[in-house]
Amino acid sequence: MPLEKGVVLAKKYEIQELIGRGLIFEVYRAIHTKLSKEVALKVLIPEIASDLEFTRFVIQAVRKVVSLEEHPHIAWIHDIDKDGVYIFFVMDYLPQSLKDIIEDVSIDRAVEITLDVLDALNYTHSKGLIHKDIRPSNIRLSETGSAILSDFGMAEIASKAAMKFKKTAFIPPPHYTAPEQIKSFDLADERSDIYSVGAVLYHMITKKVPFEGDIRQIYYQKLSGYNIQPPRMLNPEVPQELERVVLKALSQDPKDRFQSAQEMMEALKGIKSRFLGKFILLEFEERRSEGSFKRKIEFRESSPFRLESVEIPSVISLGQPFNIKLVFSGKGEGRVELKVPDFLTLSDSPIQNFLSPCEVSWHLITTKEVYGAYELEISIFANGLNVLKEPLRFPVLFLPVYYEIKEEGKTKKTIFRIFGIGE
Ligand SMILES: Nc1ncnc2c1ncn2[C@@H]1O[C@H](COP(=O)(O)OP(=O)(O)OP(=O)(O)O)[C@@H](O)[C@H]1O
Ligand SMILES: [Mg+2]
Repeated sequence: MPLEKGVVLAKKYEIQELIGRGLIFEVYRAIHTKLSKEVALKVLIPEIASDLEFTRFVIQAVRKVVSLEEHPHIAWIHDIDKDGVYIFFVMDYLPQSLKDIIEDVSIDRAVEITLDVLDALNYTHSKGLIHKDIRPSNIRLSETGSAILSDFGMAEIASKAAMKFKKTAFIPPPHYTAPEQIKSFDLADERSDIYSVGAVLYHMITKKVPFEGDIRQIYYQKLSGYNIQPPRMLNPEVPQELERVVLKALSQDPKDRFQSAQEMMEALKGIKSRFLGKFILLEFEERRSEGSFKRKIEFRESSPFRLESVEIPSVISLGQPFNIKLVFSGKGEGRVELKVPDFLTLSDSPIQNFLSPCEVSWHLITTKEVYGAYELEISIFANGLNVLKEPLRFPVLFLPVYYEIKEEGKTKKTIFRIFGIGE
């Protein structure tokens, strides 16, 4: 029976609701009545709390974490306490985790989150503490969006409980677990955490875990020959250098991985400054048949080239070919992708690679009798990475007219026709 709302533990923690339940802990949202602050309580389930030897082990494991100094990227355990049959520890209440947002995380954000986690590991590894259970639900998010690694010490507790109580369900899902840790929990070292960080980063940038399938299939794949699909095959926006970092972290042999959190952090920071980083407001000229005007876009500051102008017609009619032209300045390699409604035929591939300074253009022609306003969309990439915060969108009017040139004697006459209506 879960604790009911209003129950007060250790005279100061007032239970609000049960937020989750594992096989060892029940997690509650509670109010620290003296500080009027929300906290999360991890309460050992009474069946396990009644085993004195195991309880002692749990308290010891948690004490190691409590002895850490406060760190901006580690979920702090404030207190271990007891009330009757209830043994619990108290943490910051952090309702959101990476698991909740992983499908929407951008590559930039993925790198930021990974850097936060590595910063936490850099500290705990220096204290001899290995996490052993890094996965999206244990990466909590603060109100400002920074990542906070939680559940230090929990992997040891879960592993011991699995043996003691013979419940394999204690074993965490092995999606993010290093191969050597799968072989034996005791083989895990700092580099096993690096593997898990790599697996979480892989998931964030490709939206898939490196090894899929049920537990047996994952075990088999991780322990036999390794074949990880390169991230860029799943998401071409991943910069090549980032792919290298992720695959290095996921090496089967720990010797081939980054040897420390610090080393991986440095590699990621280098990528961030060269390929990621902030967007700046940039002006380019939009050239339409009736005139030009300046438009502002959010453009990646680290991009080696800039967009100078886009030439595009405002009105298009059936059968009339038209042009779109982009002018780039600066020196660098890039890729531009044009998305158009399916009734338009393009002269070239919608994706064009370029070397700036240069012009990139397409000829298009309408093949169907449609009319109305439609949007053409342009995305631009440098080093495989989107340089625009939002794709550029250009409304274009498709008119129900077409031209016909008729020769009458010696004079040529241009006739405008409206679809379905005669001359
Ligand atoms: N500090 C916290 N603040 C708020 N909610 C938390 C906190 N820690 C854990 N939770 C929530 O409590 C539930 C159980 O967490 P626990 O850490 O025991 O399991 P988990 O295996 O990490 O999570 P999940 O079941 O989501 O994989 C989860 O829903 C989790 O989101
Ligand atoms: Mg957890």
